Amino acid sequence: MGKHTLKKDLFEHKSKSWDGKSVRVKNAKEIAEAIIENIRLNKNMHLLDMGAGTGLLSFFLSEYVEKITALDNSASMLEVFKNKQNHFACKTQILYADITKDKIDNKFDGIISSMTLHHIENTKELLKKLRSLLKPGGFIALADLVSEDGSFHDDNKGVYHKGFNTNEFTALVKQSGFKKISLTHTSTIEKPHGSFGVFLLTAEI
Ligand SMILES: C[S@@+](CC[C@H](N)C(=O)[O-])C[C@H]1O[C@@H](n2cnc3c(N)ncnc32)[C@H](O)[C@@H]1O
Repeated sequence: MGKHTLKKDLFEHKSKSWDGKSVRVKNAKEIAEAIIENIRLNKNMHLLDMGAGTGLLSFFLSEYVEKITALDNSASMLEVFKNKQNHFACKTQILYADITKDKIDNKFDGIISSMTLHHIENTKELLKKLRSLLKPGGFIALADLVSEDGSFHDDNKGVYHKGFNTNEFTALVKQSGFKKISLTHTSTIEKPHGSFGVFLLTAEI
């Protein structure tokens, strides 16, 4: 468990209805499919899902790995995860922690993440932290929004990036010491006022 130096739960009002939006489930499934295509997952792997939320992404990958640790700093999102824990095909562990602040006493075969990067202000520091949490040869598989005009969220509180310029993000990942970097487009989230692209970046240390 990380130390509970946590701020307000920014997802409290959304957590209960999170999985009810088919667009979100479809997006997580498409990201999971892209991860399966790009990374050779196996039943000995222990993954960290950074900003796991209710576990949408973890769920779709659970039959391919041994264990997933679901890390999040929203107690209410993790509560929903907890209620679904028995339906996962692998072992799961819930870790209530802030990835930017808390010390995490474990090393992982891979770190997966969906739609969390834009909530973390300092991407460079985050990549450094993620690197430190990987076993030798470990991978990252990070999915998030391609640069958008700021209209994706109704409320931009806790949103630090209007998506990512994928060239700049790829360069930053390279600068941070990762190798075998690969970028794919996984899905498009359709909203009444526009379409929002989602990318997946995979890389190894
Ligand atoms: C947009 S939600 C995505 C949830 C899930 N990955 C999905 O695709 O449905 C972003 C998640 O990241 C979590 N999060 C944001 N900042 C975080 C941080 N610093 N440490 C840990 N989790 C964080 C939020 O609490 C939230 O559950």
